[in-house]
Amino acid sequence: MGRVDGKVALVTGGAMGMGESHSLLLAQEGAKVVVTDINTEAGEATAQQIRDAGGDAIFIQHDASSEEQWRSVIDQSVAAHGKIDILINNAGIVISKPNEETTLDDWDITMAVNSTGVFLGCKTVVPAMEKAGGGSIVNISSIYGIIGAPNAAAYQASKGAVRMLTKSCAVDYAQYNIRVNSIHPGVIRTPMLGDAANDEAAIKQVLAGTILERAAEPIEVSYAVLLLASDESSYMTGSELVVDGGYTTV
Ligand SMILES: NC(=O)c1ccc[n+]([C@@H]2O[C@H](COP(=O)([O-])OP(=O)(O)OC[C@H]3O[C@@H](n4cnc5c(N)ncnc54)[C@H](O)[C@@H]3O)[C@@H](O)[C@H]2O)c1
Repeated sequence: MGRVDGKVALVTGGAMGMGESHSLLLAQEGAKVVVTDINTEAGEATAQQIRDAGGDAIFIQHDASSEEQWRSVIDQSVAAHGKIDILINNAGIVISKPNEETTLDDWDITMAVNSTGVFLGCKTVVPAMEKAGGGSIVNISSIYGIIGAPNAAAYQASKGAVRMLTKSCAVDYAQYNIRVNSIHPGVIRTPMLGDAANDEAAIKQVLAGTILERAAEPIEVSYAVLLLASDESSYMTGSELVVDGGYTTV
């Protein structure tokens, strides 16, 4: 028995990094997965990996900051599977700059993808989840939606917005039996880290205060996503699950 058997899960930003990992794990645990991303080639590859392993997945090209595309993605998912039980709002971008060097365009695009994208997902999915009798929304924030860091003003503001949007939706959607929680990863080895991922000195510096003294692999966050996506977390809503190796503890 899989932990999300019979459920339909939509994962944004599912082409690469953590979104790919979340998609693979949810499929492995029995969900039919709708992978969405702006990157068609890599997104199709994630869906194909799932099908090759005997799972059920489709890919839909999707810019998470577009309301029109959200409506289309939800419609296509419901047409394919009849319902949506799980939404993982994972798509995100980072532009690392000090606040005084951050342009309005930097700010706007970061907010559009990281905050507006999550707002639109949480809003648009509700009728499909109501149809399923309820559901689970997992919003990927960051430890930088909770604590400060250098050169990340727009990113931090966008992830802080996700943290509070999650709590607001948890309150509003309880009446529909929809739970809404956020996850706050620490430093995870994905393409988002860019060159820094191979810069051991930089990683070491960032991780100096991390109790576990290492970065994580995407699958270590995916297991937290799976918990919140599954019925095992039936009494969790509005919560913030920190997956950071203890970075924010000391
Ligand atoms: N890597 C980390 O250390 C870390 C830490 C905390 C939080 N996060 C968050 O986790 C999430 C996943 O990050 P990751 O590290 O896997 O990043 P990543 O860059 O490896 O992957 C992000 C994915 O999102 C997609 N994407 C970008 N813009 C999009 C858009 N407008 N619409 C749809 N898809 C879009 C990309 O194509 C890519 O497939 C992000 O929200 C990120 O902010 C990452």
